[in-house]
Order: sequence, then structure tokens, then C-alpha cells
Amino acid sequence: MSKPTLHSIHVALGLRSYPVWIGAGLLADHTHWRPLLRGRHALVISNTTVAPLYLPRIEAGLEGLHWSSFLLDDGEAHKSFANVGHALDALGQLGATRDACVIALGGGVVGDLAGFSAACWMRGIDFIQMPTTLLAMVDSSVGGKTGVNLPVGKNLAGAFHQPRAVIADIDTLATLPAREYRAGLAEVVKGAAIGDEAFFIWLEQHADALVARDVDTVLEAISRKVEYKAGVVARDETEQGERALLNFGHTFGHALETAGHYTALLHGEAVAIGMLLAAQLSERLGMSEAADTARLRQLLHRLDLPVAFPPGMAAQQLLELMRLDKKNSAGQLRLILWRGISRAEIVGGVAEAQVLALLDDAVADAQPGA
Ligand code: NAD
Ligand code: GLY
Repeated sequence: MSKPTLHSIHVALGLRSYPVWIGAGLLADHTHWRPLLRGRHALVISNTTVAPLYLPRIEAGLEGLHWSSFLLDDGEAHKSFANVGHALDALGQLGATRDACVIALGGGVVGDLAGFSAACWMRGIDFIQMPTTLLAMVDSSVGGKTGVNLPVGKNLAGAFHQPRAVIADIDTLATLPAREYRAGLAEVVKGAAIGDEAFFIWLEQHADALVARDVDTVLEAISRKVEYKAGVVARDETEQGERALLNFGHTFGHALETAGHYTALLHGEAVAIGMLLAAQLSERLGMSEAADTARLRQLLHRLDLPVAFPPGMAAQQLLELMRLDKKNSAGQLRLILWRGISRAEIVGGVAEAQVLALLDDAVADAQPGA
């Protein structure tokens, strides 16, 4: 079988522009990333699941540097301020100077925390994203949002800090559990749903190949999503407007994740349910047609993603969690809704009563026998 094509996507941010390389064998073939390390120090941040699998692949590329690794325990709960402190301690022990580089080897949890640690050390040093989950390849590694969770809510502490490069080696997806892979597909659907109808149709046509993990189809899906996101980030790096659309499904999704203590639902699963809730709310507000909601539900279902709440969710608690969302202002809910496929919009002043009614219905639908 021939080697999949190597894709390169440029994130255009002036002097802070960077490439996203997507292809096979990229960790071991360090020609794309080794020249980007400017100084003598590197800290690899990874976790206890990913490091044994993939750290050996990059070790040859680190030869000649002073480098060490800092490994998180696995799981969203470890994307914490305490672990940023430990990562900074590791940089201190390494004697990292301003030209040091942090390498984030792992999924979105590792990438977000490693990026934030790089942003904090000496007020900002380089970092390279080496995403190893589908979700991280198509979303979290691109665009420079870094941060950690706080007990009161998800991603509430962080910084915009762009990587020097993103190296997405699709070989790493071979060991990714099926559920994690599917969760990544939710973020692929999101890009198409908010602003790229041709891509949405392509996903409808290729859903079976994506579920079967056909390599060329997966590579094309990653590239198309990254290309879409790179464009949004280039136009609105710090989320003054358009970039907020990338949060389609996220206000609901973050509330579901927090209510489930980050264990009931994976991020991508919560986003899948959240996108459907956003579509349903749009329909109730007269912004979109039932047929659009149905197409979204159908695509998510074909990709084996959840479309209903897990048990144990309480509508009022979810609403309270939604009030903490970063998009809100002056005590008003601000949500990303849509006027149909590929026509997402920021909608301010959404009536809480309407959101609560929708959540109540979703909780009722999730009851056994409903
Ligand atoms: P994750 O980082 O927890 O990884 C999922 C699981 O897969 C973990 O158990 C991990 O150890 C394991 N894993 C990773 N790569 C593997 C591989 N190749 N083989 C086997 N196992 C592997 O979760 P995720 O879905 O990658 O990322 C979710 C996080 O990303 C959330 O914290 C979310 O808030 C964040 N996020 C950030 C952005 C952003 O723009 N910064 C965007 C979306 C999501
Ligand atoms: N995942 C949302 C963003 O990067 O803006």
C-alpha cells in the first residue's frame, strides 16, 4: 500500500504563522520539526498512556539537546493548575532558558496544559504540538487556545499562545480507542456544520469510510477541518467575533461535561449532544428548519456519536453551569446557534426559560422507557 500523501496547511498569523503537517511517520521523521527547536532545552509533556507508545519515536530527533519529560496521569481531571505548576518545576529543573521549547505529545488535555505551561514560562516560550488523538489533530492543536480547568468550570484559566508547528502523525491513530476516535469526529462535523456545507455533504457521503477508519478518507477529513479552522483563526485569532462560532455545541457541551464530572462523557461526545441541542433551540426560536436538525442528528448517529443525554443530568444544574460560559456577558446567555447547515451565528440575550425548557425535555427523553 502506498504511503498517504503529506498535507501541509499554513496558519497565517504574520510573524507567528506556522505550518500544520498532517501525514504518516512524522514523529520519527524529524525533518519537519527538529529544525524549529531554537535553543538547547526541550521539555516533552505527555501522559502515562501516550509516552510509552510514542515518546521513543521522537527521541532520535531530540539528540544533542538537554531534554526531559513530564508525564501527566491520564484524564481530563489532570488538566489542572497544580499540574501547570509541576510542568513549570520541570522546566526549572531542566534549566530551561527563553529559547527552550515545550513539546506537547498527546491529546487535547496534554496539548492545552503544555501550551499554557509554555505560555507561562518566562512569559512565553516556544511549543510544538504533536497531537495523537483525532480531536487534537482537527481542533485543539490548532489555533493557540491553551489552558486548564478550574473546579468551578472547564477551561476557565488560560492564554492564547500559538505553537511553532503542529505535527499530526496519523500513524498514532492506530492505537486510539474507538470511542476516542468517534469523539474526534464530532469536532470534524462541527467545522462543516458551522460554515462549510460542501464539507458537510462530503461527510454524509463518507460517513461509512470514516467509521471504518479508511486512511485516505481520515486524512482528507483532518485536512479539510484544519484548513477551515486555520482560516477562522487567521481572521479572528483572539475570538472577537467569527472564532466564537467554533464553540457551536460547546456551551451545552461544557455544562454536560462538568455535570458528568468529566467522566460520563468525552469532550467530543458532549459537543455532539451540544450541537444537537443548539440545532433544536435554533428550531424552537424559528431560526432553522427541522430538516437541518434531522440531517445533523442523522450524521452524528451514523458516526456512532451520542445524540441524547446520559442518565443523571439535571436541567437546572446544567443551566447554572451554562451561565459561567466565557461567551456570556452582563448576565445574559450568548449562544452559537444556526440558521441551518453551515450558517452558524452568535446569538445574544437568549431567554433562559427557553433553554431550561429544552434541557428539561432532553432530560425527560433520556429517562429509561422514554
Ligand atoms: P485526551 O487528551 O484526554 O485524550 C483522550 C484519551 O486518549 C486519553 O486517555 C489519552 O491518554 C488517550 N490517547 C491519546 N492519544 C492516544 C493514542 N494515539 N493512542 C492511544 N491512546 C491515546 O482527550 P482529547 O479528546 O484529545 O482532548 C480533549 C481536551 O481537549 C479537552 O480538555 C478539551 O477541553 C480540549 N480541547 C481544546 C481545544 C482548544 O482549542 N484548545 C479544542 C477542543 C478541545
Ligand atoms: N475549539 C474552539 C477554538 O479553537 O476556538
